[in-house]
Amino acid sequence: MDDVTRDPRSKLRHLEACLTGPVEYRKSTGFENWDFVNEALPELSLSAVDTSVTLAGRRLGAPLMIAPMTGGTPRSLEINRRLASAAQAFGLAFGVGSQRIAIEDPALAQWFQVRDVAPEVAVFANLGAAQLARGYGPDEARRAVQMIGADALFVHLNPMQEALQRGACDFGQVERPLGRICNELARDGIPVFAREVCFGMTGSTARRLVQCGVAGVDCAGAGGTSWAKVEAHCATTTERRERALRFGEWGIPTAESIANVRGAAPDLPLVASGGIRSGTDVAKAIALGADVAAIARPFLVKADEGEEALHRHVEELLGDLRLCMLATGSGTVGALRGKLRRVAS
Ligand SMILES: Cc1cc2nc3c(=O)[nH]c(=O)nc-3n(C[C@H](O)[C@H](O)[C@H](O)COP(=O)(O)O)c2cc1C
Repeated sequence: MDDVTRDPRSKLRHLEACLTGPVEYRKSTGFENWDFVNEALPELSLSAVDTSVTLAGRRLGAPLMIAPMTGGTPRSLEINRRLASAAQAFGLAFGVGSQRIAIEDPALAQWFQVRDVAPEVAVFANLGAAQLARGYGPDEARRAVQMIGADALFVHLNPMQEALQRGACDFGQVERPLGRICNELARDGIPVFAREVCFGMTGSTARRLVQCGVAGVDCAGAGGTSWAKVEAHCATTTERRERALRFGEWGIPTAESIANVRGAAPDLPLVASGGIRSGTDVAKAIALGADVAAIARPFLVKADEGEEALHRHVEELLGDLRLCMLATGSGTVGALRGKLRRVAS
């Protein structure tokens, strides 16, 4: 992610690691501890189920986002354009990966452009909090948004990954610049969301982010792609690889992360990512308190296979989501909330 993206080749190594390496957590999201409560008399037809929601001022056809991954190289652009086209076809939200390289070298901005294939999509720009600690502020945030005609900005919080990747990490001054960015971009009508990348969030972090003025959060938890394992895969020294592997299972599982953030911020727009792997996972994330679920690595794998594979996968996810809604008597996405029972501690 952020610091790595100083060099486009590092970004490509991340892509390759996520396509080929053993980078998934052994630990689970915690969704298996919850079952939906079947409704035998839903008074609904499958075709009447309404999966639409609103995010960052745009209407989505389904509560699903293609999580931020890449951009800034010709190969990344090809993947992003495939993903963004699918987002347009199915009414999903879409995020580009960290734009730091293109902030520092504007010639690379061309490798982030997706708006022409995704004119109606809720598109999120992306910068890292590590850059905020090093002096990025509202100017850079605006440039990232304008660069791709985004509707919103993600600021990713990844201290664990930064430290594993670089052997150093300065997150000593993030809240103040984040507050300034939230404030200034709000005046432009651009919501700023903070996001983890897979290590999860506590309720107190969520409260501090609300204090900073964020318009939403992605609580990205553990149970899917482990960024410690990605860094282990990409490490250039044995010492770094071994350290990253020791932290391979670090993180708050996604189900717990959702509950933490929702408990602390009942009305905050909440995206949930990290190990969402099926339409049932999407539905469970929402039933536990998220507004929208987001998926990264599986979409990358399908996009790499080709457009048809990607579209088939989205259709399957959305079909399963609709079925969960029907069989819980949920005519709308909001009605899914709470329709779970705990089956394990
Ligand atoms: C190849 C790849 C690159 C990523 N790069 C970024 C990034 O630049 N910025 C960011 O906020 N998250 C980034 N992520 C993190 C994802 O958005 C997501 O939070 C994480 O992978 C967990 O979701 P998953 O289990 O569905 O993969 C990246 C993920 C992947 C797979």
